[in-house]
Amino acid sequence: MSMGLVRDEVFRERQEQVADFRFGHEVAQVFDDMLLRSVPFYAEMQRMIAEMAADFATSGSNVYDLGCSTGTTLLHLHPHLPPDLRFVGVDSSPEMIEKCRQKLAAAGFDRAHEIICADLNQGCRVDNASVVMLVLTLQFIRPLYRDRLLAQVCQGLNENGCLFLVEKVIGEDSLFNRLFIDHYYDMKRRNGYSQLEISQKREALENVLVPYKLLENREMLLRAGFRHVDVFFKWYNFTGMVAVK
Ligand SMILES: C[S@@+](CC[C@H](N)C(=O)[O-])C[C@H]1O[C@@H](n2cnc3c(N)ncnc32)[C@H](O)[C@@H]1O
Repeated sequence: MSMGLVRDEVFRERQEQVADFRFGHEVAQVFDDMLLRSVPFYAEMQRMIAEMAADFATSGSNVYDLGCSTGTTLLHLHPHLPPDLRFVGVDSSPEMIEKCRQKLAAAGFDRAHEIICADLNQGCRVDNASVVMLVLTLQFIRPLYRDRLLAQVCQGLNENGCLFLVEKVIGEDSLFNRLFIDHYYDMKRRNGYSQLEISQKREALENVLVPYKLLENREMLLRAGFRHVDVFFKWYNFTGMVAVK
C-alpha cells in the first residue's frame, strides 16, 4: 500500500516525555506514509473528492487546498479539473510547503498555482473560489478561530461553490466514541503501528488535534452560511462532509 514511501517511524522509539505533535521536518519526510496508514480509506476519500470537485469546479475560478501538506490532494485533483483553473495551497509548515513544492515539480505540475505559507488561525483570504478543501486541517485550527475561517471560506466561494471538510470526529454518544476509537487503533495495528507508537502519537496529538462531533461540524458549516450540507464519508471516528454555498 505504501510502496516507495519513506516509512513513518516518528513514534517508534520510547520517548522520555512526549512533546506536542509538530508538522516539522521529521513528519514532513514521512507524512504520505503516515496518512496512508493512519487515515481510513484515505485514497478512496481523495478519489471521491476529486470526482465531486469536478462537479463544482468552474473555468476561470480558484481551487483552494487549506492545509495542503505535501500537495497530495492538489495532485489528485489536477487531472480531473479544467485547465483554466488556478490552484492555491496554504499551509503553515515551511517543511510541508517545501515538500509540496518538490512533489509538484517532480510530477511536472504545469497548472497555474500558488503555494502559500500562512497560519489559518489568522484567517485566510479566499477569492473567486469554486472549490475549497479542508482535509484533516480544521481539527488543528484553534476552536476560537474555526467559525471565522469557515465564514471567510464561504464568503470567498462563488455561488454554488463547494467546500470539502474531512475531520476526525467525536462520537455523538460516549459509548460509541470509545468503541470507534478502539477500532480505529485496531486499524493502525493492522497497518503496522505498534502499541507504543499508537499511544505516544495519541499523547502528542492530545492538545493539538481538537475534534468536534459530526453534528457540531454540520452546525458550524450552516452558521458560516452554507445552504446545503451532507456527509459523503463516515468510518468510525472519521467523516467527510460536503457543503455548498
Ligand atoms: C493532517 S494534515 C492535512 C492533510 C492534507 N490536507 C492531505 O489530505 O494530504 C494537516 C495540515 O495542516 C497544517 N496546519 C496545521 N495547523 C495549521 C494552521 N494553523 N494554519 C495552516 N496550516 C496548518 C499542517 O502543517 C498540516 O500540513
